[in-house]
Amino acid sequence: MISPAPHELPDGVTVTALRDLAVRLATAAGTLVREGRPERVEVAATKSSDVDPVTVMDRASEELLREMIAAERPDDAILGEEGDDVAGTSGLTWVLDPIDGTVNYLYGVASWAVSVAVVAGPPEPSSWTVLAGCVHSIADGRTWSAGLGEGATRDGVPIRSGAPASLGASLLGTGFGYDAVRRSEQAQVLAQVLPRVRDIRRLGSAAIDLCLLADGSLDLYYERGLNPWDMAAGVVVATEAGAVVTGLRGRPAGNAMTVAGPRDLVAELVTILEAADADGAGDTAGDTRG
Ligand code: IPD
Repeated sequence: MISPAPHELPDGVTVTALRDLAVRLATAAGTLVREGRPERVEVAATKSSDVDPVTVMDRASEELLREMIAAERPDDAILGEEGDDVAGTSGLTWVLDPIDGTVNYLYGVASWAVSVAVVAGPPEPSSWTVLAGCVHSIADGRTWSAGLGEGATRDGVPIRSGAPASLGASLLGTGFGYDAVRRSEQAQVLAQVLPRVRDIRRLGSAAIDLCLLADGSLDLYYERGLNPWDMAAGVVVATEAGAVVTGLRGRPAGNAMTVAGPRDLVAELVTILEAADADGAGDTAGDTRG
């Protein structure tokens, strides 16, 4: 296991304390979202496209997270899906997704979560060190957490990622962006992957997908277009559970591509994804489509 370098932790701060706070934050926001869910959820606004919704509860959940962080760790920065960035002086940034799986929340499909992580360094997947994270599945209360060098748990019980026999025997999670052109490209990539695996699952919350990979409920995962808040907590849970998390072409996981699973099968999947140009390396439109 990798432990944080001493310079990555402010004086007097421990990974254990940061992880405990991540759990308290995610479960408090999860309780707010669960108890406040109206019979019929309305869309308050849309973001990257007409089918990328924000609800009143996304905003309320993030406000609660921000208030709690300001009260407990006022010197830390905040990067949240639904609000302005907050600058800090401690070198730590809280990366927040107040509801990951908002479309599921809207429709009542039971895969939505609060995702809370704290990172050292720039809050960007290619350069951050994720110190601790928690993903709280709001509909059923399952809570995954991890601290760098401390391992990962689900509901307090240590977890390890799975070791499927082959790519062909693997159950693979993935997801799609909100932009129609991007989705069309993703469908073409999926056509290359689907015949080579046991089956796929599109469950609708990247944070939960990465935690299911961590506890062996999924064997492999890949997705293009993840934002920092979709992945930060799930990545530390997955890696601390023994999974490899990477991008394509030797790059780290990030917006262009995130692949997770056991090392040998990740290598096989990466080869297929690179051949299919799944990260859009030849796409002149770049990575603005989410
Ligand atoms: C989305 C979910 C989904 C993934 C999308 C994300 P949101 O996050 O994680 O599973 O496929 O890429 O944007 O919009 O529900 O917070």
